[in-house]
Amino acid sequence: MASIVFLFLIVSLLSLKDQTAASLSYSCAYRNTSVQFTLLTSAHSASNSASSCSLQQCNGTSADNQTCSLSPTPCFDYRTMNNISYCAPGVDCSVLQPCDNVTHSCASNDSVCIVNSCCSPSAVCLPVLTTEFCSRGWRMTGSMNSRRYFQAGSILVIGKVLVTGGHNGSFALDNAEQYDPSTGSWTTTGSMSFARTSHITSILPNGKVLVTAGHASSGLSLDSAELFDPSLGSWTTTGNLNGARFGHTASILSNGKVLATGGRNGGALNTAELYDLSTGNWTTTGNMNNARYDHTASILPDGKVLVTGGYGSGYLNSSEVYDSSTGLWTTTGNMHAVRYQHTASTLFNGNVLVAGGKDSSGTVLSSVELYDPSTGVWTTTGNMNNPRLWHTASVLSNGKVLITGGYNGFNYLNTTELYDSLTGSWTTAGSMNVVRSLHTAFVLSNGKVLIAGGYDGTNYLNTAELY
Ligand SMILES: *[C@@H]1O[C@H](CO)[C@@H](O)[C@H](O)[C@H]1NC(C)=O
Ligand SMILES: *[C@@H]1O[C@H](CO)[C@@H](O)[C@H](O)[C@H]1NC(C)=O
Ligand SMILES: *[C@@H]1O[C@H](CO)[C@@H](O)[C@H](O)[C@H]1NC(C)=O
Ligand SMILES: *[C@@H]1O[C@H](CO)[C@@H](O)[C@H](O)[C@H]1NC(C)=O
Ligand SMILES: *[C@@H]1O[C@H](CO)[C@@H](O)[C@H](O)[C@H]1NC(C)=O
Ligand SMILES: *[C@@H]1O[C@H](CO)[C@@H](O)[C@H](O)[C@H]1NC(C)=O
Ligand SMILES: *[C@@H]1O[C@H](CO)[C@@H](O)[C@H](O)[C@H]1NC(C)=O
Ligand SMILES: *[C@@H]1O[C@H](CO)[C@@H](O)[C@H](O)[C@H]1NC(C)=O
Ligand SMILES: *[C@@H]1O[C@H](CO)[C@@H](O)[C@H](O)[C@H]1NC(C)=O
Ligand SMILES: *[C@@H]1O[C@H](CO)[C@@H](O)[C@H](O)[C@H]1NC(C)=O
Repeated sequence: MASIVFLFLIVSLLSLKDQTAASLSYSCAYRNTSVQFTLLTSAHSASNSASSCSLQQCNGTSADNQTCSLSPTPCFDYRTMNNISYCAPGVDCSVLQPCDNVTHSCASNDSVCIVNSCCSPSAVCLPVLTTEFCSRGWRMTGSMNSRRYFQAGSILVIGKVLVTGGHNGSFALDNAEQYDPSTGSWTTTGSMSFARTSHITSILPNGKVLVTAGHASSGLSLDSAELFDPSLGSWTTTGNLNGARFGHTASILSNGKVLATGGRNGGALNTAELYDLSTGNWTTTGNMNNARYDHTASILPDGKVLVTGGYGSGYLNSSEVYDSSTGLWTTTGNMHAVRYQHTASTLFNGNVLVAGGKDSSGTVLSSVELYDPSTGVWTTTGNMNNPRLWHTASVLSNGKVLITGGYNGFNYLNTTELYDSLTGSWTTAGSMNVVRSLHTAFVLSNGKVLIAGGYDGTNYLNTAELY
């Protein structure tokens, strides 16, 4: 792995307190190259009145806020003589070549001449590579220790990501690993008591992670549940579910209980049950009106739970709402399309966006619809650019929904797209480095999205990437 060392540029944006916090190191990784930035304690020419220094932090919303990949190092907006903008981390002037002071060009075409660098009065040649560290888009991060698809995972309270179980093409897995966004690497943690795939993880109010059900290598549905304690990195078993199930949902309710719905154990199930953290017990609650698996569950703004579609007595367009105060399910509007293996995302305005999936004829869908909880009515919205199932959907901190990968019925996909709820339209968000379906996506606290594992049609994946 190549390693280029640049020194971090002190600019007036940094407080004196930061400057005296001796030699903080930051690193960025882009594909196979890493760059280390060292925050200098010495003064720098950023405030040199002789230079036309006007460095600003790169603009961007909090969601795609341009900081250096894998670190909070800010990125700056550098300008050429023609006022073309390049976003790159702060670099120490002493390691940069000056530009030709007449033509404002650089000897190497790997560099661009920057006139607002704050490097004394002279313009400097900024290596274009440095812009990669701040660019939006997709870049690889550390790989998991295990190849897996159909895994489940959650973001821990401490900001790390826990990924559990799944299947590696031969066996269901009992192992688990954690991703640290500050280092971009994965570490194996304690293993579960049961190998499981097609299970669900939920973060409980006490910060522990509840893993529910799934199926074993044999295909048999599981009724076991286990708790992960992030402070110990280990697992304990907790109460069994009343019904074994996989292809189910599990949602954390506002009262802290976890609602598991449907799934399959041989046939489709209409049962639902609640996990109570204080007793470690599961108790049954009202049955759904429809048995269903490969459906979705979403928490609505009033705390009720909306389930949609799936497969039960046929492929379903129906949806129903669970009220935890009564323990009862009420049928609500039908979707315009029958769908299973779709995604559902609760938008900031409380509407639920349902995207893709497959219909009763086996056609993979690009259609998308919105549920309005105040009216119980579904309306269609802009179609995705690609039909897909086995994709992921994540609500970003700017409110947009990022859809990644999946399968269109013919090909496994590396394409991604963003839904803007203000315009009801989709724009492409570039291609992942790796084709993936049945992978997992996590919105990190730094706003980036971590994508891990999955299946590309041939291989079970251990690779991970960041958006
Ligand atoms: C990274 O390095 C490996 C091994 O040196 C090489 O096979 C791979 O093509 C490189 N990837 C990129 C994106 O440069
Ligand atoms: C980037 O995000 C961080 C944390 O979310 C925030 O403190 C900072 O102000 C943001 N910067 C910009 C330029 O938006
Ligand atoms: C800042 O935002 C403006 C307007 O959206 C855009 O033209 C410009 O390229 C952005 N600059 C950077 C460094 O991203
Ligand atoms: C450079 O472009 C920015 C917008 O990207 C503009 O605000 C600024 O006035 C321009 N500066 C010059 C010298 O043209
Ligand atoms: C350009 O740089 C050379 C050598 O550093 C110097 O002698 C010359 O005066 C400079 N020319 C201008 C226009 O600044
Ligand atoms: C500059 O770019 C040209 C055309 O892209 C290329 O042929 C040449 O080798 C490059 N020069 C250097 C020094 O990289
Ligand atoms: C799949 O997982 C099993 C059980 O952990 C392991 O023995 C096997 O080596 C794994 N296979 C691959 C291809 O990773
Ligand atoms: C619920 O949990 C308590 C304490 O762990 C246990 O004694 C009791 O038997 C459990 N009840 C059921 C129905 O499992
Ligand atoms: C939903 O499905 C049912 C039965 O499959 C069908 O009769 C009904 O027309 C569908 N409704 C809509 C809105 O597509
Ligand atoms: C995405 O997949 C397509 C088709 O499989 C391929 O042509 C393209 O190179 C891939 N893009 C990336 C960034 O890997």
